[in-house]
Amino acid sequence: MSGRRLVAVDLGTHRVRCAIAEDEGARLKVLGVGEVDSRGVSRGVVADPDQAVSALSKALDAAERAAGMEVEAALLSLGGRHVRSQPSRAQVTVASRSGAVSGSDLNRVLEAARDLPGEEGTEVVHLIPRWYTVDDNQRVRDPRGVAGSRLAVDCELVLASVAHLEALVECAHSAGLRVDDLVVQPLAAAEGVVRDSELEESVAVVDVGAGTTDIATFWHGTLEGVRVLPVGGHHVTADLAVGLRCGEAEAESLKRRHGHCDPARVLPEELVRVVGPSGVGADEVSRRVLAEIIEPRAREIVRLIGQALEGPHAPAKVVLTGGGSCLRGFPEAVHQLLELPVRVALPEGLTGLSDQLGMPEHATIAGLLRWGQRSGNRRDHSSPRAERSSGRLNRWLHELF
Ligand SMILES: Nc1ncnc2c1ncn2[C@@H]1O[C@H](COP(=O)(O)OP(=O)(O)OP(=O)(O)O)[C@@H](O)[C@H]1O
Ligand SMILES: [Mg+2]
Repeated sequence: MSGRRLVAVDLGTHRVRCAIAEDEGARLKVLGVGEVDSRGVSRGVVADPDQAVSALSKALDAAERAAGMEVEAALLSLGGRHVRSQPSRAQVTVASRSGAVSGSDLNRVLEAARDLPGEEGTEVVHLIPRWYTVDDNQRVRDPRGVAGSRLAVDCELVLASVAHLEALVECAHSAGLRVDDLVVQPLAAAEGVVRDSELEESVAVVDVGAGTTDIATFWHGTLEGVRVLPVGGHHVTADLAVGLRCGEAEAESLKRRHGHCDPARVLPEELVRVVGPSGVGADEVSRRVLAEIIEPRAREIVRLIGQALEGPHAPAKVVLTGGGSCLRGFPEAVHQLLELPVRVALPEGLTGLSDQLGMPEHATIAGLLRWGQRSGNRRDHSSPRAERSSGRLNRWLHELF
């Protein structure tokens, strides 16, 4: 039992979450969780640093109190529409005297693949190898020790805006935290909920948050790509607030208690009370009216997800997670419109205070903990150009660094 402590922070648009866990080798024991309403975060990025630091500090305090310990460093999730990925390929000459690929050849080819000419203001957050080629020997998973004169790598680079990345790191520092590692939200959510068997298939992990929908697609155990859509559950709430002429807090509460994506599944005679924006005066509204307001937005979100999944390696299954996936009728809409099997996923296999990370909205924070558990050695990644490890989703690279 290693007993190593892991700390994760997920600065979401709706909630800011902090979790402290102990790495018990095969298991991950949750020791403390702090969760507060988010402030200063818009569509996944820091919009008001002072407010974001204050929310982060509150979540951190709550987690520290629950765990009975103070923390100094954490893994952070990096969200926002600026996060994207693109394929990269590089080739080097094998330089080792033995004529077989060495660790240093491997480092050189990965460094070459990481090079992004002309991408000012963009940072490579993760480099996820797909496979290596040694001379004519294709799709090699670990090229070390393979004899040959040319080594090539095919990989996916996950990119982010340096400005947004630095704003997030700055927030953590202002809240008194060192940054151990940064993981983009689509990959953190996938790490949090996807099963090994699903990774070997063609699968899309779709995290519907409040401000963004984060997508990571996998094809036969390799990362196909990541995508962040600027839509989420908050847009549904905002539509309800306008349509019902009420405040957003009331719209959010109505959505959770009575919302549905399919008007046909709701009886028109079922009435709900809607309190006006000033908190006075209440109207009775048919629950079907709520569903009629929600439906077009939900279908629009599903349509955008479908567009993002188009490509040569379309997934055979959708693993749906994030708070937005809890909207009644949403998983069914994804299933019907995309004609794919859907599993609504929440973190599994945690011990300790695991019930506090037991909802789909905890996918990202649980994934950060797992990422930290699997990537092992802790390093300070506050430098934007630092190397980043990549958990289970990149087990080859993970083994190599
Ligand atoms: N039971 C529910 N029914 C409907 N919607 C829900 C339910 N629970 C949560 N949501 C919605 O999920 C969204 C919050 O999800 P989540 O906590 O995953 O977002 P976040 O991580 O804070 O935001 P983001 O990832 O976009 O930055 C909100 O829009 C909320 O209304
Ligand atoms: Mg989120």
